[in-house]
Amino acid sequence: MENKSICVTENALDEILIEDIFDNKGNILIAKNAIMNKYSVELLSRLNIKEIYVYPSKEESRLSKNNNFPLIYKENILAMQKIARRLAAGKGVAPDDLGEMSKILSIEINKNSKMIGHTGRIKDTDEYTYNHSVNVAIYSVYIGRLLGLDDGRLRELCQAALLHDIGKAKVPKDILNKKGKLTKEEFSIVKKHTIDGYVLSKGMSFLTEEVREAILCHHEREDGSGYPYGIKGRKINLYAKILAITDVYDALTSERAYKKKSTPFDAIEEFYNMGINKFSRPILNIFLKNISQLYVNSKVILNDGRVGKIEFIPPKDLTFPIINIHGEYIDLSTNPSLKIIGIVE
Ligand SMILES: [Fe+2]
Repeated sequence: MENKSICVTENALDEILIEDIFDNKGNILIAKNAIMNKYSVELLSRLNIKEIYVYPSKEESRLSKNNNFPLIYKENILAMQKIARRLAAGKGVAPDDLGEMSKILSIEINKNSKMIGHTGRIKDTDEYTYNHSVNVAIYSVYIGRLLGLDDGRLRELCQAALLHDIGKAKVPKDILNKKGKLTKEEFSIVKKHTIDGYVLSKGMSFLTEEVREAILCHHEREDGSGYPYGIKGRKINLYAKILAITDVYDALTSERAYKKKSTPFDAIEEFYNMGINKFSRPILNIFLKNISQLYVNSKVILNDGRVGKIEFIPPKDLTFPIINIHGEYIDLSTNPSLKIIGIVE
């Protein structure tokens, strides 16, 4: 379908960009999927960019005569924004919100009776693992959609995400929730959850082998440093590559008994520190670039106690957003002593 073109100065606010916008030097100025606000509208106006292309709403897509529907509507991204902010603020996700973001997600979590039987068992043994699995499914389906996966593949990806840690049911609880560092022996017991998960998944006839393999390989890393087998990128399937990223992202940004949660910006930094060679580079780039944009317009707390709103996240430097505090724009890249310590939603 035709992308919706709109005039920057008239009605761009709250629209979502369907393509990157470049400056005259060829650098990305505003990233695709960014939500337009006053700051970005001003930025475009200053550069004399008058027209942008944005996502149509679901209704607009439906009315289009051309059947080439986009996989993502404006509503999907807005719903994901709401969910991502709630998760970053340490609040749970309302099941009703999932449908707006993705019908597939909502069905697999709330309605697929085969899945509910198994995820329910995860919930009974460990609440954290259950919530984590739902979050990983949310992030995975979001990224899967950005990668252009069709509905059948998205459903499989969602199942792999919901069941990826099912093998943890066999890990003793005192090891699973241990506060300090795990001993070598304990870690080798934890590592077994991948193989145990695969064995359990063999008993679920509705899963495809690719889903089972993703459960087995979600801790494998591109450079061969993962487990259980230490296989490298070429041998790791697409679902497992996605899970590797979304699993780590949710673990970093969630609170546990033994650790505080990181902000999304610290988590992005952490991915760079861990070495981007561990993850599929193109998938990681797409994920971080897009997930970060969802926090535009979020309320944040800085380490000096001030509360502000994220106005803009430079595509070239995702860890240094521009914050609006009472009308004053503060660029974190030029204020090294300032840091975001929490998202309020
Ligand atoms: Fe795991």
